Amino acid sequence: MTSVLAPVNAARPVTPLGILAAELAELTEELDAMGGVELGLRVRLRRAWELADGLDPYLDLCTTPESPALRELARRTAAEDWSRYAGETPVEQEMLSGHVEGQTLKLLVHLTRARRVLEIGMFTGYSALAMAEALPHDGQVVACELDPEVAAFAGRCFAESPDGHKIHVRVGPASDTLDALCAARDRFDLVFIDADKAGYLGYLEVLLSGDLLDRHGLICVDNTLMQGQPYTSRASTPNGAAIAAFNGAVAADPRVEQVLLPLRDGLSLIRRVDTPEETPHD
Ligand SMILES: C[S@@+](CC[C@H](N)C(=O)[O-])C[C@H]1O[C@@H](n2cnc3c(N)ncnc32)[C@H](O)[C@@H]1O
Repeated sequence: MTSVLAPVNAARPVTPLGILAAELAELTEELDAMGGVELGLRVRLRRAWELADGLDPYLDLCTTPESPALRELARRTAAEDWSRYAGETPVEQEMLSGHVEGQTLKLLVHLTRARRVLEIGMFTGYSALAMAEALPHDGQVVACELDPEVAAFAGRCFAESPDGHKIHVRVGPASDTLDALCAARDRFDLVFIDADKAGYLGYLEVLLSGDLLDRHGLICVDNTLMQGQPYTSRASTPNGAAIAAFNGAVAADPRVEQVLLPLRDGLSLIRRVDTPEETPHD
């Protein structure tokens, strides 16, 4: 595998924890610079900053390392100048899910014994490749991506991975791809939703009301904490409002059972419980 050493751009914080750590770092610096602030207060603030700042690196350290192909894909994504991409919606390196979330998805694919995975929102393919690595040799990931240039970037990375052949990319609006997959009577064991936030409720409805999701299928949804916007008083962006509405609708939906894990920017796991054959475990 080639590894051209291009400069890697620093990612800005885009998770509640990352934003909290950056905020505490700034406060600590400001307080230290002020002078005259009681030592005990500065020590406590530094401790709070350490607790927030050290968690993600520690999770990385304790998680199974990523494959060389995933590491290279992440490096290339960080080195790319995304501002020159002129697709329908802006793309940026911070969209990539990364090591710990990728490994979580791999474990979920293993645990559910999934053979067919649907990804809605692929970007440069980190999560698609992570899930593909956990599939058997004849398993498939169907990955939806709106932006053809981004899809081509991902395709070049997949070509260099021993698991890339399992990924089938569908370029275009995910809603069109879902319609086509429904019409073809396709079916998936695991679905990862990680595209336009305003589309989340629509994607979920297609999955719950049609036959696209296997009876025992699992739906994983990314960014359901949306930088903390749904639970903090700070003004919400359209994405924050869309996620708050999505989370509220899921919580009120009797057809599903779910948990929102505080992993990175929030990962919700959802399963359908309204199947007639359902028999609860004793
Ligand atoms: C957050 S990124 C996906 C990150 C990826 N899952 C990963 O883990 O690295 C969201 C992607 O969804 C794509 N997208 C946005 N709207 C879409 C739509 N309506 N249909 C398909 N893809 C869309 C964007 O172009 C972007 O590449």
